[in-house]
Amino acid sequence: MKVLVVGSGAREHAMAWKIRRDRADTQLFLAPGNPGSGALGERLTVAADDVDGLISFARGKEVDLTLVGPEGPLAAGIGDAFAQAGLALFGPSAAAARIEASKAWAKEFMRRHGIPTAAHRTFAAFDEAAAYIEWLEVPPVVKDDALAGGKGVTVARTHEEALAAARAVFQARPGGRVVLEERMDGWEVSAMAFCDGRTARLMPAACDYKRLRDGDEGPNTGGMGAYAPAAISPRLRDRILREIVQPTLDGMAAEGCPFVGVLYPGLMITPAGPKVVEFNCRFGDPEAEALIPLLRSELLDVVQACLAGRLDRLDPEWSEESCCAVVYASAGYPDSPQPAEPGGLERVRDAVAFRGGSSGRVLTVSAVGATLEEARQKAYAGIRGVDLPGGHYRADIAAYDRALTAEVRS
Ligand code: AMP
Ligand code: GLY
Repeated sequence: MKVLVVGSGAREHAMAWKIRRDRADTQLFLAPGNPGSGALGERLTVAADDVDGLISFARGKEVDLTLVGPEGPLAAGIGDAFAQAGLALFGPSAAAARIEASKAWAKEFMRRHGIPTAAHRTFAAFDEAAAYIEWLEVPPVVKDDALAGGKGVTVARTHEEALAAARAVFQARPGGRVVLEERMDGWEVSAMAFCDGRTARLMPAACDYKRLRDGDEGPNTGGMGAYAPAAISPRLRDRILREIVQPTLDGMAAEGCPFVGVLYPGLMITPAGPKVVEFNCRFGDPEAEALIPLLRSELLDVVQACLAGRLDRLDPEWSEESCCAVVYASAGYPDSPQPAEPGGLERVRDAVAFRGGSSGRVLTVSAVGATLEEARQKAYAGIRGVDLPGGHYRADIAAYDRALTAEVRS
C-alpha cells in the first residue's frame, strides 16, 4: 500500500512511524516530512500546502491513501480537492474544518446545537469591542477569530490587558474579528476522537502543556509536552461523548458538513461539567506523540473505517499503559526560534525521538510505561541524552495526573 503523510512535524513523524510499525511493507511518502520521518519513507519536495502539487504526485504514484497532519491544508480545502480528484484522504472538508479555522463559526455552531462552552460575543471593529470590554464586570478572554497557531489568545487579568489584546488583534489583521469570551475555571483536557461523519470513537484522554516554562509559566506555545491517558472517570468520559462529541458530529452532519477525521475538542472541566475551550480538526501536537504509541489497532484500519463510514463496526484498541511525550524546543521558541540540530539521538533508548522542525519544536521524546511515572522516567532519561545547544524542555511534564489531582480537589 502507498501512503502519503502531509506535514513536517513530530506529529506527522509519529503517524508515519506507527504506519510502518503496523505494516512494514507500506510504502511511505512524506510531504515534506523531516530528517526523522525521512528514514521511514521518501521525502517529497512538494510543500504541505501545495494542493495541486500533492494531487499530481498522488495520481502519478498511484497513492492509495493520504493523511494530513496540520490544520492549514485542511482549512484551505485539501480534503475537497482530493475528493474531487477521486483520491482517498483522511481529514475533514474545508466546510468541516471551519470548526477550527473560524472561532466565530465554531462558537455560533455550539450555540445552535447547545454544546456547552463559554458565553461569547464577536466584534468586527475595535471601538465596539472596547466598549463591551469596559462594560464587563470581569475582564474577558480575548481571541483572534482566525487561525493563529495557538498564539491568538489572551486570558486577560485586567480590563487594560483585554483592551490591549483586542487592539493587537485588529492591528495584526485589519478587517479581522475578535472574539471576547467569558473566562472558565477548571482543568484542561484534550478529548480527541476518530470520526466517520456519524460515529465517534473517543481516544484516551490526553493532557498537554501549553506554557513554555515549568509550573505553567511563560508564554503560550504550540505545546511543550503531553501525556495519556489522563485518568478521567467513566462518568466524565461518558459526559464528554454525550454532551460534546456526539452532538458536534450530529450537528455537523445536519448542517451538511459531516466531520470525517480526528475531531479534537480542547475541554475545560468546570464545576458545572465539561465545556469546550476550542475545537481542532486534526490530531493535537504533541498529544499525537503521546497517543499514537498507545494505539494497538492498526492506524490505517481505523482510518479506512472512518473513510468507509463504518466506524460503528470498529472500536479501536488501546494499550492499558501510559505514555509521556516531552518536547525539546530550540533557543528563542516561541517568539524567535533559532535553527538547531539535535545530536545524540542514538542514545535515546526505551523511548522514541520524533523529529519536528529545524527550529522551534525540534523533537519530541515519547516513552511508554506500565504507569505514568514509569513512562515519565523513561521519556526524561531519553531526552537527557539528546544535545540541543541552547534548547529548552520542561521538567514537569506528567509530574502528576491533572485528572486525579482535580478529583482530589473536588
Ligand atoms: P485556545 O487557543 O482557544 O485553545 O486557547 C489557548 C488557551 O487559553 C487554552 O488552552 C486555555 O488555557 C486558555 N483559554 C482559552 N479560552 C478560555 C476561557 N474561555 N476561559 C479560560 N481559559 C481559556
Ligand atoms: N497541542 C495543541 C494543539 O495541537 O493545538
